[in-house]
Amino acid sequence: MDSEPTLSYLDQPQAVKDRLDRMKSREVILQVQGLTKKFATGKSEIVALDQISFKTHRREFLCIIGPSGCGKSTLVRILAGLETASGGKVLLDGHPVRGPGRERGMVFQGYTLFPWLTVRKNVMFGLRMNNVGRAEAAKQANEWLALIGLQKFADAYPHQLSGGMKQRVAIIRALVNRPRILLMDEPFSALDAQTRERMQSYLLEIWKKVDITIVFITHDLDEAIFLADRILVLSAHPGRVDELIEVPIVRPRLPTHCTSPEFAATKARLEALIHPPAKPGEEEETYPAVPLLTDARDEVD
Ligand SMILES: Nc1ncnc2c1ncn2[C@@H]1O[C@H](COP(=O)(O)OP(=O)(O)OP(=O)(O)O)[C@@H](O)[C@H]1O
Ligand SMILES: [Mg+2]
Repeated sequence: MDSEPTLSYLDQPQAVKDRLDRMKSREVILQVQGLTKKFATGKSEIVALDQISFKTHRREFLCIIGPSGCGKSTLVRILAGLETASGGKVLLDGHPVRGPGRERGMVFQGYTLFPWLTVRKNVMFGLRMNNVGRAEAAKQANEWLALIGLQKFADAYPHQLSGGMKQRVAIIRALVNRPRILLMDEPFSALDAQTRERMQSYLLEIWKKVDITIVFITHDLDEAIFLADRILVLSAHPGRVDELIEVPIVRPRLPTHCTSPEFAATKARLEALIHPPAKPGEEEETYPAVPLLTDARDEVD
C-alpha cells in the first residue's frame, strides 16, 4: 500500500505564494549586508555575528530564531543603533543606520515602562521627546490607548497593570512616533503561556491596522511560525544565517492553524536546524544524576 505523501514546509498553498509574491514586490525597508560583530574579551575575541545578510520588505513580519547565545539580541541592538557593528552594513530605506532614530521602535523582553510615569505619560514620552506639544501628545496617547482597549488605565501606573497590559502599552509606546520598523526582542517571553498566545494574536491585529514592518526575535518555534511571513534561522558560535524559511500558512492566522500539517512540517524543519543530531565527537552536555537528599525514601518513589 502506498504511504501518504508527507507534506514539506516548501509546499506553499497558492494563497501563501501570492501573498509572499506581493510582499516581495514591495520596497525593501531594511537591508543587512555582511554584518559582523566581534567583542573583545580580555586577550581574546568573540565573533558574535558572522556575515549576516537579509532584507525585509514593507509590511513583512520577519521572525529571527536561533539557539541561546547565537547573537540575536546583538543583532537587534545593532539594528536599533544601540550597538555598532564591526563590519558590514545596515540600511534602512537605503540609508545607513548610525545610532538610534525615531524611524525604529523597540520593544524588549522585560517591562520597560517608566514606573514613575502614568500609562498615558509613558505613551506620551516619545512624542514629547520629538517636540510634540503636550496637548497634542496627550490626544495621540489617548487614541493609541483606545486602540489597545486601555483608555481606562491612562492614569494608572505600570505596577497596577498585568504583564500582558504592560506589553500592550510597550508596543504602542514604540509605535506612537510612527516608525518604519518595529524591533522586538523576545517581548512575550516573561508572560504566562495563555497571555502569551493572546498577545501573539493581538500583535497580528495591531500589525494589520498599522503600516509597519516587524523584526521579532524569539526562542519559541511555535511563536515564530504563528507570527511570521518568513523566519531567519541563525546558527551559533558564531551567529550565521542557516536558512530563511517562508511560512506556508495562510493569513489570517488562527490558533487552529497550530495543529495543521503545514505547521507541523515547518516546525519539523526548524527543529532539524536548531537541534541538529550531534556529530561524532560532539557529545551533548550531560547533567549529573541528582543524589538523594532526603531519608524519606517512600515519599519520593
Ligand atoms: N557586551 C558584550 N561583551 C562581550 N560579549 C558579549 C557582549 N554582548 C554579547 N556578548 C556575547 O555575544 C554572544 C551573543 O550574545 P547575544 O546576547 O546577542 O545572544 P542571544 O542570541 O540574544 O542569546 P539569548 O538567546 O540567550 O538571548 C554571546 O556569546 C555573548 O556572550
Ligand atoms: Mg537575547
